Amino acid sequence: MNFQLSEEQLMIQQAARDFAVNECLPGVIERDEHQKFPKEQIEKLADLGFMGMMVKPEYGGSGLDTMSYVIAMEEISKIDASVSVSMSVNNSLVCYGLQEYGTEAQKQQYLKPLAQGKKDGELYIGAFLLSEPEAGSDATSQQTTAEDKGDYYLLNGTKNWITNGNSASVYLVIAQTDPSKGSKGINAFIVEKNWPGVVVGAKENKLGIRGSDTHTILFNDVKVPKENRIGEDGFGFKFAMKTLAGGRIGIAAQALGIASGAYERAKDYSKTRKAFGTEIMNHQIIQFKLADMATKIECARLLCLKSAWEKDNNIDYTLSSSMAKVFSSETAMWTATEAVQIHGGYGFVKEYHVERLMRDAKITQIYEGTSEVQRIVIGRAILK
Ligand code: CAA
Ligand code: FAD
Repeated sequence: MNFQLSEEQLMIQQAARDFAVNECLPGVIERDEHQKFPKEQIEKLADLGFMGMMVKPEYGGSGLDTMSYVIAMEEISKIDASVSVSMSVNNSLVCYGLQEYGTEAQKQQYLKPLAQGKKDGELYIGAFLLSEPEAGSDATSQQTTAEDKGDYYLLNGTKNWITNGNSASVYLVIAQTDPSKGSKGINAFIVEKNWPGVVVGAKENKLGIRGSDTHTILFNDVKVPKENRIGEDGFGFKFAMKTLAGGRIGIAAQALGIASGAYERAKDYSKTRKAFGTEIMNHQIIQFKLADMATKIECARLLCLKSAWEKDNNIDYTLSSSMAKVFSSETAMWTATEAVQIHGGYGFVKEYHVERLMRDAKITQIYEGTSEVQRIVIGRAILK
């Protein structure tokens, strides 16, 4: 077993680190305070080839492996999780879903510009629309309907909490086509944001990832051409679950990055802050906190990389991605909270960054399946 990163992976790590420090760190506090979507940063990520990292070059992507994606997600999330959530949704939900299950025509029309993150020089990214006001964890209870009208579907309903809701040009929408068939009566569709009947609702005012634009999206008699359905009739729920299994690796890597960022700041601070005549790192209880942080982060990183490796090697990664997500997100929440504690009062103000990391950490335990949902997936897999 080789735990050494390849030359290419080390280069990607350095490129992501440089990007995070040079492009994301300046203004991160202001973007968080004013809920400003990091458009410039995402455009630069697109120029770096990070918005379609695992997409094949013939479809406009960078043709990299999932391990490289995890490595890049960690570095960017150390600094700005509002940037990395857009990157994660575009890469591992939208682009992956289209590359894996889309038709050739769908790939040519949508995947190519989405993988490049740009079309005609303008930002061009996607969003994934599964959650509804009455269907979050219980995702099969879809209320949005897509009525088969012959050569098109008529889409009606409401999706909420949609990441990239206003900035995306393309939505992958999950909807009910035949309620009598349960999860097999659900389909997935490619919908363009500027089609008649698509309405972008209010932006959410959030605890964390405040730069990310989270919106409710409403569909009022939207005509979706038949050729925009993804996969066979009834494939929509499986599409969502299979795509989310990979998405969870991305969010696990985001959580890993938040944890690493908080740990690095706490470690540095402990070397300079003095109390009782010595640097606080010399107090054993502080050392033990740092030791536990380092150990949990290493466990989280190994789980993320193992799940990514399984995905790259066509091994079922449903179990490992849920394990990576639940462990990394709980590590992020715990580590960021302890990082605030190590900073004392300074941790409670914005300039030291750890309070933002603590607020950002919380969402990783909720989206792309709550920690409870991950335990359901893990429990079913280990007991079957
Ligand atoms: N791969 C393939 N098929 C799968 C699957 C998978 N990973 N998981 C489930 N299925 C299939 C099942 O086999 C079953 O098919 P059959 O009837 O043919 O056997 C069907 O799907 C229904 O599955 P379940 O009976 O297991 O469904 P359930 O109602 O018990 O729900 C659940 C299972 C795991 C709780 C699921 O509903 C779930 O994952 N909920 C969480 C939803 C979620 O993660 N939302 C995230 C939204 S996107 C987002 O959040 C983005 C962001 O923030 C940035
Ligand atoms: P609920 O499902 O109502 O859960 C409430 C509580 O009950 C949770 O603690 C949950 O774990 C628990 N619970 C529910 N069922 C069970 C059970 N069977 N056993 C034990 N406990 C249970 N969705 C998208 O589709 N696309 C996006 O881009 C997207 N981005 C998001 C961005 C943000 C900032 C947020 C906040 C959410 C986003 N979501 C997105 C939605 C997210 O995936 C859901 O919030 C999440 O799946 C939980 O659903 P819910 O909020 O309806 O909570």
